[in-house]
Amino acid sequence: MTNSANSDHFFNHPLELPCGAVIKNRIVKSAMSDSLADGQGNSTDTQARLYERWAEDGLGLSIIGEVQVDPRFPEKPGNLVLSPDSDQKALRALTSRASINGAHIWPQLSHAGGLSYLPISEPKGPSALNIGSFECAGMSEIEVSQLPEKYARAALLAQNVGFTGVQIHAGHGFLLSQFLSPLFNRRQDQYGGSIQARSRIIVEIIAKVRAAVGASFPIGIKINSTDQLQGGLTQEDALEAIRIIDSTSVDLIEISGGSYFPGAKSSSDRASSGPYFVEFAKKAMSLTGIPLVVTGGFKFERSDAAEGTKQKPFIL
Ligand SMILES: Cc1cc2nc3c(=O)[nH]c(=O)nc-3n(C[C@H](O)[C@H](O)[C@H](O)COP(=O)(O)O)c2cc1C
Repeated sequence: MTNSANSDHFFNHPLELPCGAVIKNRIVKSAMSDSLADGQGNSTDTQARLYERWAEDGLGLSIIGEVQVDPRFPEKPGNLVLSPDSDQKALRALTSRASINGAHIWPQLSHAGGLSYLPISEPKGPSALNIGSFECAGMSEIEVSQLPEKYARAALLAQNVGFTGVQIHAGHGFLLSQFLSPLFNRRQDQYGGSIQARSRIIVEIIAKVRAAVGASFPIGIKINSTDQLQGGLTQEDALEAIRIIDSTSVDLIEISGGSYFPGAKSSSDRASSGPYFVEFAKKAMSLTGIPLVVTGGFKFERSDAAEGTKQKPFIL
């Protein structure tokens, strides 16, 4: 495609999701943990202004990173939390400002698991682990079985306060990504072993969230193409996980990669100039009819940069 055909595709083609909801164009602001909540998990005016600003510029979908389903396992102290104690008035102010111009605004439903922020939590992942500087406790089978309800409760609250969809975070080495990864998931029960078993909790969460929010509310998921960790999720297993997700009611699959495991490569941490995960996404397209979003290493030249100034790339 030429550059102008490419930008026409991004800016002028709405996307109808399987649930029937429509995203007005193909511009997605991928989840970024913004640390703009008030320290108690509640939204702030500054946070609402940030997402309002993005919506003003015309994107189709904006995703708020690391919105916690359990306040005990945050990624950072400034994460938003969706729980019965949430300040719903502040959340409504956030969603009404962030959805101007017909923009979708979704929270990324998250649980940091073994990577929960140490100073304020006791990290707990699929299995008890002690690898180098990384240490976490393991979840009991009862605790695992309670996860779908936590995600469903958060999703229902999100819907009630005006979010227009949700994304389930199963990437970057946090809890659901840990379940997928044989490096973190050493469980001997129905949630560990084969990639089918390691995906089981994700399938259960999707089903419970769908039951809570109804048929026409968008549910997305973010998943790694690889952890980029020795002994972690392989591309073959990641493709199998996508095949499994294809049989669920998910509306949008975002492909990423990398991990925040100490010393590991993160999603943006690559030697090449990017984009990083397109080849994987092409393989995924042959396994699922669910629309895909690819993140990582997209850089566009600004066409409106003033003459004589260096053009700066911006990243979707
Ligand atoms: C500051 C920052 C915060 C991020 N926070 C999140 C997050 O909360 N959840 C998430 O899934 N990805 C997060 N990411 C990853 C991005 O969503 C995206 O996958 C990644 O930045 C893509 O690579 P790129 O920066 O090379 O385009 C974050 C990235 C950055 C730069």
